[in-house]
Amino acid sequence: MERSVFLLLPLAVVVMLAGCRAGPGGEDQRHQVPRVDGLPDTVTFADVAPIIRAHCIGCHRQGQIAPFPLVSYDQVRRKAKTVRKMVVGRWMPPWPADTAYSRFLGERTLSARQIALLAKWVDQGSPVGDTTRLPPVAGDLARLMQGVHAGRRPPDKVVWLPDTFHIPGDNRDRFIITKAPFELQRDTFLAAVEFVPGNRRHVHHMNGAMISYAEGAKADVFDGFAYIDADSNKSLDAYADLKLQNDDGSWPLLTPNMVNYLPGLSPPLYPPGIGGYRIARKGAFLLNTMHYGPGMRDTIDRSRFNLWFSPVAPERPIKELFLGTLGSSPVEPPLVIPPDTVMSFRTRMRIPADISVLTINPHLHLLGKSFLAYAVTPLHDTIPLIHIPDWDFRWQFAYTFPRMLHIPAGSVICVEVVMDNTRDNPNNPFDPPRLAVAPDGRNMRTTDEMLQFFVNYVDYRPGDEEISLEPRKP
Ligand code: HEC
Repeated sequence: MERSVFLLLPLAVVVMLAGCRAGPGGEDQRHQVPRVDGLPDTVTFADVAPIIRAHCIGCHRQGQIAPFPLVSYDQVRRKAKTVRKMVVGRWMPPWPADTAYSRFLGERTLSARQIALLAKWVDQGSPVGDTTRLPPVAGDLARLMQGVHAGRRPPDKVVWLPDTFHIPGDNRDRFIITKAPFELQRDTFLAAVEFVPGNRRHVHHMNGAMISYAEGAKADVFDGFAYIDADSNKSLDAYADLKLQNDDGSWPLLTPNMVNYLPGLSPPLYPPGIGGYRIARKGAFLLNTMHYGPGMRDTIDRSRFNLWFSPVAPERPIKELFLGTLGSSPVEPPLVIPPDTVMSFRTRMRIPADISVLTINPHLHLLGKSFLAYAVTPLHDTIPLIHIPDWDFRWQFAYTFPRMLHIPAGSVICVEVVMDNTRDNPNNPFDPPRLAVAPDGRNMRTTDEMLQFFVNYVDYRPGDEEISLEPRKP
């Protein structure tokens, strides 16, 4: 039940075959233009620009991860046909969670009306209309640049990745494991932490944990640094290469999953009094996955962490449930997926005390097909948590509920997952498919599959269900 575990997080190591993904296709309901009444007879760019600005330019602007900008009229008009296809097929904006099942903050989804409006605009030949009534786009761009920590005082400490990473221009995705070690004056408390990518064009996503060394356990935290390219089929022991262990060979304390980065998604900033961490004098951020997107030109990245300290212990510290592979609840049946099979797995955990859930984070690798999580209360009510009908390993979001979600003592959290180890899974790293297994916690291989579910929560207090988790300004 504690959020810190004496166990190292499995590496989120994946192999990616460039260009291998399910493209738009299939003529089910999902891929049709929704029928909506009351659209204007003529739809112009002036009508659709607010949708694009609110939902697309977070990633589709200069220097960001999306392959082309969608800021100006000309940029959108040039891509109008594919924009229509991606929007109608619900491929863009990327938001894997089913909003009919549960709702989260910052959902990147378009309403039926917005989809119909965009489709009609393209069908009418993408006319420009009267754009003079649009506010200047510069305002939206400035807002995006500021980010969620705007207004906070400058960071108390900046922890850099120890070296410049060279990204070769070979048009290939890269999955890197690395660490950003630090040494402070004393143990203290962390009010907030933020990952700042050095190269926004290439840093696709990052999942980070925090390692805390007990006093005297590690002489040199900076020792053993390496950027480890996980995108190879070699067997490797990345954590040993990174020299994460204590000097006596035992493992340090790990706070998993505490700082994640995904372009276009703001990290949660919880209401006053909620959140914060204890941070040891000596430690490191472990970047379990650092995903660099492909590019045609050699380039570099040096990313960093901004840290804000707090003189006082957090009033309601965040705790974490860690279900599944290497966590506190077993996967049933054991995660072994023979080639050419589609299999279902589940993992369950009973909650001994009342909790208030803030953020959840489902995690699977390439063979994931769908993910469902819910809680069943002692009175047999079902509390929906998340449903991801089409798992897409590229969009590994952490999902924050609009309000704290109360789960009563004695409830059971249930996770049900389907894994597809057939040729029909376009993300299958192997053709022909090979036996896929969960890692054993020591040696990590790129072929490892895993099923994990992280639940960030605080101990329940009456009235929590009224507390909104909408981001506040720091
Ligand atoms: C979270 C970041 C993000 C957001 C938000 C986003 N996109 Fe994308 N988009 C991408 C990335 C990355 C790609 C590159 C292809 C991929 O990885 O799927 C892409 C690809 C595309 C493509 C090309 C697809 C193809 O296969 O040729 C279109 C068109 C597109 N996006 C339109 C949109 C529109 C329209 C919106 C808003 C309604 C939007 N995107 C929102 C990240 C984003």
